[in-house]
Amino acid sequence: MLLTVLLCTLGLAKAGYEPTWASLDTRPLPTWYDEAKVGIFLHWGVFSVPSFGSEWFWQHWQGAHIQAYVDFMKKNYRPNFTYQDFAPQFTAEFYDPYKWAQVLNASGARYVVLTSKHHEGYTLWPSRYSWGWNAVDVGPKRDLLGDLQLAIRTLTPHIHFGLYHSMYEWFNPLYLQDKAMHFQTQNFVKRKTMPELYEVVNQYKPEVVWSDGDWEAEDKYWNSTGFLAWLFNESPVKDTVVVNDRWGRGIPCHHGSYYTCSDHYNPGVLQPHKWENCMTLDKRSWGYRRNAPATDYITIHDLLTELAMTISCRGNILINAGPTHDGRIPPIMEERLRQLGSWLDINGEAVYQSQPWTHQNDSLTPGIWYTSKGDAVYAIVLKWPQAGILTLGSALATASTSISFLGYSSGPPLRYRMVKKGLQVVFPPMSEVKGQWVWVLAMRGVNPTPLLTPPQTFMSEPSHSNFIHFMQ
Ligand SMILES: *[C@@H]1O[C@H](CO)[C@@H](O)[C@H](O)[C@H]1NC(C)=O
Ligand SMILES: *[C@@H]1O[C@H](CO)[C@@H](O)[C@H](O)[C@H]1NC(C)=O
Ligand SMILES: *[C@@H]1O[C@H](CO)[C@@H](O)[C@H](O)[C@H]1NC(C)=O
Ligand SMILES: *[C@@H]1O[C@H](CO)[C@@H](O)[C@H](O)[C@H]1NC(C)=O
Repeated sequence: MLLTVLLCTLGLAKAGYEPTWASLDTRPLPTWYDEAKVGIFLHWGVFSVPSFGSEWFWQHWQGAHIQAYVDFMKKNYRPNFTYQDFAPQFTAEFYDPYKWAQVLNASGARYVVLTSKHHEGYTLWPSRYSWGWNAVDVGPKRDLLGDLQLAIRTLTPHIHFGLYHSMYEWFNPLYLQDKAMHFQTQNFVKRKTMPELYEVVNQYKPEVVWSDGDWEAEDKYWNSTGFLAWLFNESPVKDTVVVNDRWGRGIPCHHGSYYTCSDHYNPGVLQPHKWENCMTLDKRSWGYRRNAPATDYITIHDLLTELAMTISCRGNILINAGPTHDGRIPPIMEERLRQLGSWLDINGEAVYQSQPWTHQNDSLTPGIWYTSKGDAVYAIVLKWPQAGILTLGSALATASTSISFLGYSSGPPLRYRMVKKGLQVVFPPMSEVKGQWVWVLAMRGVNPTPLLTPPQTFMSEPSHSNFIHFMQ
């Protein structure tokens, strides 16, 4: 009797999700994920060798026969060169996962998601189900996934380790057979996708399983709910793992721990369900591109803008970097990540563990995004106001209002007054504040202006084409 009560109190008695979305969707989101807010995505694989165009290189060259890719191969490689011939050049000789962990840590990110296997099918771990086409058999001769996992968990254990996994493989004959049978057979799922997923989870205990490559077939074909029921009930990460929403045609934006909907999803209005904006430092590719000019990289200001907008609307941001074939995080990406971390060092209070406020962006002044935590409301200010005076249309001062400026902690609280248009705040002199690019006001004792209309919380229906990576 006592034991039963105890078990019920601990919520243990309720364990046992059924392999249906109705049941799986009742699982509460593990709290670490919403609190983390910022993650780093890493796209690394054999595509990092040609590092031309995008990580879709193989498909663009030999699937779609896009001229630029065909020409690139004709001009630079011997006749009959195959995609597999790139693998021995995936050398990773400078790969130091402890250095990567330091860079990730310096970015302020609280989780990392590495491509364990992209659509090319090459696994970054020595999978028993990917014989001859994995990082130990050909290329680096090293367990790239396992080594990052170990480094993160040893050096920076507060960063949650996660992995990306593609369900489909462009050119896998087993997959193509199932596809030719209109997915009425499941040989690829039974012999490849599922064994591999169970293997990678059991072996590396990822706290994020970021699924992709699902969109050509229904979740029923992939057996997604069967896998997820195991993941949530019995797997070694059942209590802490989170999953995204790419588990079969029609599933994204509808089911999963959190929604990613489409790549670069950033709706700009409050969402009812936890979501994630996965976006890239190189605006045109997830995988490394050798010929990307500096202007193709997002500026720190644009990155912070994206971050502010995302977290104000209940999202997490997953920022992608593409390491090189020889195992480096390119300096321009490292610099951007370190800039982000230096900003978070000062302003992290408005980010980590924050929640959306009543208003997401200011009704009067463009470029102000709000978050909240306890009795504090944070205004993230993307542009230093003219003459150092900012007017907020969405916040009302009260008798107990106090406003401080993050990174100006030694200074006095800011002066403010209510004017007809709203709450006017006097900024400190720019030369006396620590931060740069984007600034944060921490306001206590303010009220939201009344909402004129209920918050707009729609989920946009992603079109099918969104799911074909459009990063080209
Ligand atoms: C390329 O492959 C074709 C067909 O296998 C073969 O006939 C040809 O000799 C090969 N060319 C070279 C340069 O190896
Ligand atoms: C991780 O980052 C924190 C905060 O910037 C820093 O104090 C700590 O030394 C870093 N740890 C490592 C292993 O780099
Ligand atoms: C689907 O998942 C269920 C539950 O884990 C399992 O019993 C079944 O064998 C799986 N089928 C395939 C095709 O993987
Ligand atoms: C607030 O955001 C919405 C959606 O992004 C936009 O339509 C609106 O113009 C923004 N308001 C201001 C004042 O920037």
